[in-house]
Amino acid sequence: MRIAIVNGPNLNLLGTREPAIYGAQNFDGYMATLRTRFPQVEVSYYQSNVEGLLIDHLHACIGKADGIVLNAGAYTHTSIALADAVAAIGIPVVEVHISNVLAREDYRKTSFIAAKCKGSISGLGLEGYALAVQYFMLSIS
Ligand code: DQA
Repeated sequence: MRIAIVNGPNLNLLGTREPAIYGAQNFDGYMATLRTRFPQVEVSYYQSNVEGLLIDHLHACIGKADGIVLNAGAYTHTSIALADAVAAIGIPVVEVHISNVLAREDYRKTSFIAAKCKGSISGLGLEGYALAVQYFMLSIS
């Protein structure tokens, strides 16, 4: 099974970015743990701070990924174009947020992407990504 993890803006700074909210682990380190924990899953990783590049990458996943774990960062709350891309590609997507977006500022409580996804995981830290991979392992044979 091929799972693409896609992270949006500012998530390249995980580890040093607001650690009280996002934790102290960087994502490369977490990816290494994830690959060790799920050796049977082919996990790719892409991060961009640019909306159009994220859309291009979602398009590029067609035929190459069986499932996508998407943390669109702040674009979650602003981007109809990313939501349209999720709807367009025909690949199941699970939305992940490291922090509990429903417990934060009001503008974080809206996700344009959520309705186009299989489901959303929010507030469980980096382990949200592992839970999303586990969902795909259970749902895709
Ligand atoms: C985030 C939550 C967003 O509101 C924020 O803009 C991020 C990270 C999260 O993982 O908790 O960049 O998606």
